[in-house]
Amino acid sequence: MDLQLTLGPGPLRSQLEHELRERVRAGRLRPGTRLPASRVLAQDLGVARGTVAEAYAQLVAEGYLVARRGAGTLVAGTAGGAVAAPAPAAPARVRFDLRTGRPDLGAFPRGAYRAAIGQALRELPDAALDYGDPRGHAPLRAALAAQLGRTRGVVADPEHLVITAGTAQGLQLVWRALARRAGDVASGGASPGGDGAGAPRAPLRVAIEDPGWSEQRAGVRAAGLEPVPVAVDDRGADVAAIARAGCAAAVLTPAHQFPTGGVLAPERRAALLDWARARGAVVVEDDYDAEYRYDRDPIGALQGLAPASVVYAGSASKTLAPGLRIGWLVLPERLVADVARERWALDRGSPVLEQAALALLLASGVVDRHLRRTRRRHRARREALVAALARHLPGAPISGVAAGLYLGVELPAGADDVALAAAARAAGIALHAVHEDCTVVAPHPPALLLGYGALPESAAEPAVAALASVLRSGSPAA
Ligand SMILES: Cc1ncc(COP(=O)(O)O)c(C=O)c1O
Repeated sequence: MDLQLTLGPGPLRSQLEHELRERVRAGRLRPGTRLPASRVLAQDLGVARGTVAEAYAQLVAEGYLVARRGAGTLVAGTAGGAVAAPAPAAPARVRFDLRTGRPDLGAFPRGAYRAAIGQALRELPDAALDYGDPRGHAPLRAALAAQLGRTRGVVADPEHLVITAGTAQGLQLVWRALARRAGDVASGGASPGGDGAGAPRAPLRVAIEDPGWSEQRAGVRAAGLEPVPVAVDDRGADVAAIARAGCAAAVLTPAHQFPTGGVLAPERRAALLDWARARGAVVVEDDYDAEYRYDRDPIGALQGLAPASVVYAGSASKTLAPGLRIGWLVLPERLVADVARERWALDRGSPVLEQAALALLLASGVVDRHLRRTRRRHRARREALVAALARHLPGAPISGVAAGLYLGVELPAGADDVALAAAARAAGIALHAVHEDCTVVAPHPPALLLGYGALPESAAEPAVAALASVLRSGSPAA
């Protein structure tokens, strides 16, 4: 294959990386395309083989390419375009829904929600129907500030809160605000951090968890920043590595690491905040499902320890429903105006009626009552799933059962979790594999993620029996 690359004077490796990245971004190199072997490309370009190998390795780390043993280096499946590929849809005929990130949607408080929308409609003054504050409806910001302070230990001033269309958008707003500050995004005006002349500067680096939520890497990259995967072990993310990597920001899931289910260890929490304070860096705390903790009291938010360094990100996706598309950021004061400006530029803010309804549901205690009920339901669903796994996949290591809405099942070494997840989907079992749903750069055991929020207790037994049969027929050693 001829990539038609020409390199000019200057550092060859970064030119090569840049050229390949741009071709992938622009869709000129399609997902799945196999790149020439490093030896061959090095010969074509007249550069050292190590230069090509290093450029490939960097783009693998960034997620543009994947290295497959026996198949060489390929363009990654989700690499086309600057924006993340849409989440895989559920298969056409779903017998069992074990996808992560879904609460029990049958429990959604429809009656109370309908009443709250009606009340909001009756009571909102006409002025509230105008373009509003891009940070969101003030009564909702006040209600959330109180709720987050009480339940998560967040130090939340309503003035520092921004309502978002979910965590995914919230993170995007933060990255865009940081990028614009640093002059990495065309701002349509003078950028505060930009020098306006000279060589293009390297993009800001943002530490992301490896393994971690794939959206984090895609989102950082979509904003023009450079994601830096940092290893996660059973004590959470390697904070020393974050400090060494020269990052301006880091995004973590401290209370319940996605997907391993661990908790960031106390000394790492402290070290992370020390790093952020000393470096003036921003820690983004993705508190995506911390309301569900089954083994102990909830782990308080990091943000409460360092509100000037931490962006707290949460949403109603796991507590009420992802389809509401309502989330929130609690920001250090220095970022509030920038993030609000990004939201205004993007879409002017979130719909006011839904915001007003949620404010009423929070203030009247409906959300608290709903959470008490769904915690019990999810706990029962989790127990049914764990029991079914013990019967049908005895001995399979299970992780992350202590919190959240999903658990991990490790597969035998050498198993292809992506292929097995596809086989399960073909059999009507909707689920995801770690190697398809997460950023995985360092070697990680093959594993399936099984969500139980949407799996009624009575379905656990037949779902796991069906899954075990798929694994037996498709896995080398299961
Ligand atoms: C790690 C992580 N963070 C956040 C979210 C929630 O995203 P949103 O609030 O945009 O629905 C998810 C959803 O699955 C997730 O897995």
